[in-house]
Amino acid sequence: MRKLVAAGNWKMNTMLSSAGDLASALAGKVKQDDSIEVILCPPFPYLTTVKEKVSGSSIQVGAQNCYHEAEGAFTGETSVGMLQDVGCDWVILGHSERRHVMGETDGAINKKVVAALAKGLGVILCVGELLEERKADKTNEVLETQMKGGLSGVSADDLKNVIIAYEPVWAIGTGVTASTEEAESAHDFLRKWLTSNYNAESADSMRILYGGSVKPDNAEDLMSQRNVDGALVGGASLKADSFGGIIDAAQKLAKG
Ligand code: PGA
Repeated sequence: MRKLVAAGNWKMNTMLSSAGDLASALAGKVKQDDSIEVILCPPFPYLTTVKEKVSGSSIQVGAQNCYHEAEGAFTGETSVGMLQDVGCDWVILGHSERRHVMGETDGAINKKVVAALAKGLGVILCVGELLEERKADKTNEVLETQMKGGLSGVSADDLKNVIIAYEPVWAIGTGVTASTEEAESAHDFLRKWLTSNYNAESADSMRILYGGSVKPDNAEDLMSQRNVDGALVGGASLKADSFGGIIDAAQKLAKG
């Protein structure tokens, strides 16, 4: 049985006090609950504060990016070791905004994935197609390229520390959510890809999250699909009420 994940990607939002307040409110709600996993991914400057505010709860903290080198003259970058030093358990890699706004390639993403896993930092690897790629019937092709590229050199053993997030780019921040059928079909494709490129055990235990305009009112339907194991949430993770509603949906499904 795969444990459902509710992950909040705060992107470049919040300030010190609002980040702390949001983390405190969610810690008070989640408390110690091991029926699901809740991960908060605030901007770098607020990682320490968020980590402090969620201490005593089961909430984990993740970063939104990292660099593959361990240290040195890399102005503006943040290493895996630094993230672990401030209490991160996870890092989001390959988010569509990194790919399409910052121009990150599968090769650059792969170096980060390998560096994070080598140090035992969990990776939430995002994959997803553009609208024109979906319209041209290229969704699976794009997913395959991004999985192959992102996970190059990653062993089945290291895969235990990976979560995949399927995030169709056309659904991110647009209010347009993939239908449950569209989400399930992409997730099913990803799990089959894992079976043929790794093995059935790795594929069965992999959590594959859906991301793209997840809200409290669509979270339960999406997460109840057979191959959807939780949500990576942007906009709706910025308010305790709306992210709380998504956590409620996951807890309800987890507890049957
Ligand atoms: P959204 O973002 O929930 O605001 O669509 C999701 C994401 O980018 O991870």
